[in-house]
Parts: sequence; C-alpha cells; structure tokens
Amino acid sequence: MEALVIKEFGSADEFYETELDQPQITDDTVLVAVNAFSINPMDVAARSGKLPAQFSANWKFPLVLGWDFAGTVIKVGKNVTGYQIRDRVFGSLPYDHASNNGSYGSYVVASPETMAKIPAALSFDQAAALPIAGGTAYQAIIDNLSVKKGETVLVQGGAGGVGLFAVQIAKVQGAKVIATASPSHHELLKKMGADKVIDYHDRTAVKSLKDVDAVFDTAGDIDDSLAVLKSGGKLVTVGGRPTQEQLNLTDKTVVSQFTHATTATYDSLAELVSSGKLQIKLQTLPRSADNLIRAQQMVEGHHMAGKFVIHVKD
Ligand SMILES: NC(=O)c1ccc[n+]([C@@H]2O[C@H](COP(=O)([O-])OP(=O)(O)OC[C@H]3O[C@@H](n4cnc5c(N)ncnc54)[C@H](OP(=O)(O)O)[C@@H]3O)[C@@H](O)[C@H]2O)c1
Repeated sequence: MEALVIKEFGSADEFYETELDQPQITDDTVLVAVNAFSINPMDVAARSGKLPAQFSANWKFPLVLGWDFAGTVIKVGKNVTGYQIRDRVFGSLPYDHASNNGSYGSYVVASPETMAKIPAALSFDQAAALPIAGGTAYQAIIDNLSVKKGETVLVQGGAGGVGLFAVQIAKVQGAKVIATASPSHHELLKKMGADKVIDYHDRTAVKSLKDVDAVFDTAGDIDDSLAVLKSGGKLVTVGGRPTQEQLNLTDKTVVSQFTHATTATYDSLAELVSSGKLQIKLQTLPRSADNLIRAQQMVEGHHMAGKFVIHVKD
C-alpha cells in the first residue's frame, strides 16, 4: 500500500511517500481504505519521538503514524458483526498501533469497538476530525464533568481541536460557557456559542473569574483553573499534569483524563453533527507528503482553530 512515513523521529520534514505491506485483519477486526485522516498534537509528539514507551515500544521504521481515520470498509473479520463491506466508517486506532497500521497509510485495521458508521450528512473529512478531539471533549464534558443546565463552565484553550468541540457540547447541555483564547479567535468562539471569551494573555482577566462550577483545561493552565473553580467544583485536564498536591485537594476534584472513546461516543458525536448541534471547523488539504508536513507544522504551532484534515480520496 502507499503510505506517508518517517524513517526516524525528527522534524515534520521527515515525511515521505513509500510502498509498504498493508496491515492484515484478524477475525475480530475490519480493513478500512482511508478516505481522510486528521492530525492531533499526539501525532506531532509521536513524530518527534516524544511519546512514552507504552505507545512506541514496538514501533519500527519506516513508521506509519496517525490515529484518526475516516474511510470505507473493504474486508470484515469473521467474528465481526454490525459492519459490512462498503460501510462508511470513522474511528481511532489503538494508541500502540502496529508500525504499518497508522492512518497516514492507505489502509488501516480497525476494531469495531473504537469506530462507528458515518451518517449520510457527514463527509469523510468531517468524520475524520471527530475521533480523538471530539471523543476527548465528550468524555470530559459529559462523562467526567457531567455538565448540567445552568452551570458555568470554563474551557481553557477554547479554540483548539478539543476546545471548540467542548464549548459546543457544554452549550448543548445548557451551560453558560466561558472560553479562553487569543483575540484572533474570539469571534469564532462567540459564533460557536461561547457566552464569554477571555484573552488568556491577560492574566488579570482570567483571575477575575470566580466560583466557576466546572473547568475543562486543554491548555495546561491548572493553577489559574483551580483558582477560579468554586469549592466543591471539578477540574478535568488533558493539557497539563496535576501535581500530587492538586490531586489530593479535598474541596475541589482534579481529574487528569486519558481519553478512551468507544462506538457509543462516536455515534453521539456524529448525531450531534448530523442534527446541526455540533459544528466542525476544518482546514483541509489533499494528501501529499508536502501537505502532511504543512499540516503537522500547523498543529505543532499550538494555535490551530479547530481541526486539520488530510483528504485522501472521495
Ligand atoms: N489526555 C488525553 O487523552 C488527550 C486527548 C486529546 C488531546 N490531549 C491534549 O490536549 C491538548 C489540546 O489538544 P488539541 O487537539 O485541542 O490541541 P490544538 O488544537 O493544537 O490546540 C490549539 C489551541 O490551544 C490554544 N492555546 C495554546 N496555548 C494556550 C494557553 N496558554 N491558554 C489557552 N489556550 C491556549 C490555542 O489558542 P489560541 O490560538 O487562541 O492562542 C489553540 O487554539 C494537547 O496538549 C493535547 O496533547 C490530551
């Protein structure tokens, strides 16, 4: 199969196109021809060689990176139920996927438990943007923070891939949403439903908030997040590492989330998009090594608004 690979860890310039053996399905998995994939900060960490060993211990070069995919089922393992050849699907690969089973390859082997069907209203590009970022936002706002109508939620890093989904999902729950972002992203966040947007470069503005019911931190600003959280409130972070002292607080709950989204979450996200309640802010480029390099550099810059997707084929 054709694949965009790296032959060593390093800068985004490392990506090149090559031919590799395609991954083989088991009785419990499906083979998917990739139509689109999205780039996450984890992809950048992986390419730079900065992921911990539990992800990368078995990787060999040339290495196919990428976790999020949208594509078309072309083979179904004999124990798999619920999927058929030609189904349009999206999902995310195991964090420790095989070296030739990343979504920057033409084919991926995926598990039925971590994928879902793409509703007719969504394109492959839109679906590819959802798995890690949407799954992370959903798990934080719905599963971990249990955000309810009337609560005030602060989303730190509101304009990023995860943040933009989180802002909208919290609005669907009926919350009042405050987001932090650079001024260039304030209009976008208001359009996506944020009630108030704060420039995080202005420390006084962030610190002027008080008694927030829940905080979702995608930016690593745990200290300020805790300072504005009410007593009895909950903070979920995916952007930073809480200290033991923060985890041991008795009047506030601090959760460091590691995302594990499954079909039920992907179905919920796809339904929110289909029904017009969740919008996807996308930048898309056609598949090529140069465009993948460009996309990785954009994500590495830490100032993306929404998601970057590489379109492989219609
Ligand atoms: N633990 C997990 O399971 C898990 C899962 C997914 C993601 N993550 C992590 O979550 C983080 C966010 O992921 P993502 O996909 O949303 O990344 P992203 O799309 O690259 O996020 C970029 C956004 O971060 C904002 N930002 C940067 N520094 C900020 C700061 N100091 N305060 C507030 N906002 C800031 C930028 O805002 P402006 O451009 O407006 O300045 C930009 O919109 C990453 O660190 C990622 O590795 C963890």
